[in-house]
Amino acid sequence: MNDTFLKACRGEPTDYTPIWMMRQAGRYLPEYQKVRRGRTFLELCKSPELCVEVTLQPIDILGFDAAILFSDILVPMEAMGLELEFHEGRGPVFPQTVRDRAALDRLIVPDPHESMGFVMETIRLLRKELKVPLIGFAGAPFTCATYLIEGGSSKVFWETKKMMFSAPELFHGLMEKITLCTIDYLKAQAEAGAQALQLFDSWAGILAPCDYETYAFPYVQRIIEALRPAGVPFIYFANNGATLLDYSARSGADVIGLDWRINIGEAIQRVGDKAVQGNIDPFALLLPEDQLRARIQKLLDDASQAKGHIFNLGHGIHQFTPPEQAKIAVDAVHELSRR
Ligand code: CP3
Repeated sequence: MNDTFLKACRGEPTDYTPIWMMRQAGRYLPEYQKVRRGRTFLELCKSPELCVEVTLQPIDILGFDAAILFSDILVPMEAMGLELEFHEGRGPVFPQTVRDRAALDRLIVPDPHESMGFVMETIRLLRKELKVPLIGFAGAPFTCATYLIEGGSSKVFWETKKMMFSAPELFHGLMEKITLCTIDYLKAQAEAGAQALQLFDSWAGILAPCDYETYAFPYVQRIIEALRPAGVPFIYFANNGATLLDYSARSGADVIGLDWRINIGEAIQRVGDKAVQGNIDPFALLLPEDQLRARIQKLLDDASQAKGHIFNLGHGIHQFTPPEQAKIAVDAVHELSRR
């Protein structure tokens, strides 16, 4: 078992810097496209054997040091009782939004084993196959709430901010329910065998720090606190979160995920006694090999004072990235960081 990733999470010395990539199992791989053909994304998410296959693909093909469960942050939102669709080119869609008390009251806090047993089954199967640690995950409540309130992806988040500012009790009621669901869901993942947990807060960066503090952060803290007894490293990633770094540092997470908009050395100084994960611009994978290697070397140098460093992209790998370029990055990180 290659436990370099887990050691880095705990801030222990490692022989080299471990690397994995957000969205490493996905559309940039022809092998994934082949499995995905002829079924919807959600059908794939609900087929444990196929989830195992696509989770393993990037480990076998590219040599990552950690695997991430193949699923989606919106799977538990469907389990809360909302219809969910993924539309080609448009992303996730919730035909019925949550914008009033009646819709909120209809949401349930699901038993994860009953409604998402396929996720726990995937985790159990993966643990029999994997030679690297398995990361389980969920969306942070604020990020999940935006999808339920907007009915899908958004650019301006009009409905979300309207609810926050004009119906705060409704907003907090929704956050409360998502938080309870997320705690149960992540506990079930850890019990099934997830060896680290990551909370994705993809839209945290749209909030002013004072609003993040009121409307989003307390729920993040509660989830991390509730998962502490599970005893697995916890990673918190607030996308576009340079302005929220002081909160991330106080979130209770062991590892702070960083997007590419901040210098990693500067971030390390600000988060103090925590491991960091990140943070190359996903599009930097398109650089010519010599320049990509130089950039990786610079990032490794900048991160040299970290308590632990897990190399990652600052966000998900783009679907048109050539897999060969991702392979160059994996090999370069392993070679250049060897101690
Ligand atoms: O390797 C992995 O990371 C696989 C597991 C994974 C997926 N989504 C699979 C997926 C993870 C960890 C996620 C997280 C996720 N999902 C986030 C947080 C991370 C981030 O990107 O900020 C968010 C916001 C979502 C919601 C979501 N799911 C969106 C907005 C979309 C559409 C994106 C697009 O570019 O079309 C998805 C679909 C999705 N989730 C795909 C995959 C592989 C593409 C599905 C397909 O068409 O095959």
